[in-house]
Amino acid sequence: MRRKLVVANWKMHGSRSRNRQLLDAIKPALQSFDDRVDIAVCPAHLHLSEVISELAGSNIRPGAQNLFGLAEGAMTGEISASMLMDCGAEFVIVGHSERRGKLGEADVQVAEKFAAASESGLTPILCVGETGEERDAGKTEAVVSRQLDAVTNRVGINPMRGAVIAYEPVWAIGSGTPATPAQAQAMHAMLRGRLARRDGEIADAVRILYGGSMNAANAAELFAQPDIDGGLVGGASLKAEEFITICAIASS
Ligand code: 13P
Repeated sequence: MRRKLVVANWKMHGSRSRNRQLLDAIKPALQSFDDRVDIAVCPAHLHLSEVISELAGSNIRPGAQNLFGLAEGAMTGEISASMLMDCGAEFVIVGHSERRGKLGEADVQVAEKFAAASESGLTPILCVGETGEERDAGKTEAVVSRQLDAVTNRVGINPMRGAVIAYEPVWAIGSGTPATPAQAQAMHAMLRGRLARRDGEIADAVRILYGGSMNAANAAELFAQPDIDGGLVGGASLKAEEFITICAIASS
């Protein structure tokens, strides 16, 4: 039985005081779900250290939104896996579609980032997902498979054991219209099946989150799907009540 995981991706939102307010609002409420669901928040890099201090004693785990795929070096403005570890981060999002689509991150870079994260002991959250045009053209499975294979071909299957995958259809992100539970379930099952071809036990254990316009009103039917193991939540994670409700549903 896979324990559900709900991850807040705050994206490029927040300030030191807004983060504090949000955490003060969610921390006590989420404490009561402690033994039934895993919860993480991913603030901007700049806020990570402070958020980690504020999370002390809570059941919310810290994550980052990105990293660079090298251990260290002359890479102005970038942040390495060891820096994130040193700071206390546990998770890191890798290959978010906003980085792939708007910042030109290629499969090969995403694979390097995944490798750097898992080698250092961070838990990578690998994002995959097709655009609306790709779905309309019948390429959904091919695109998502390519994105997954780029990573497993680079690192092998074993590092997937502790990793998390997030299926985030690009057309659903920030649109207010999530994938239907059936559409999401089909892709989650496809991803798990693809991993199972290499290792059934790992495929069974890996948590596959859904992301894209998840909110308090639609989380229950998404979480009810057999291969949906939680959510990667954007906009709704910035609203305390919405996020608490999503976590409550995941814990029930
Ligand atoms: P929204 O929940 O705002 O659609 O964002 C989803 C997402 O991109 C999480 O990584």
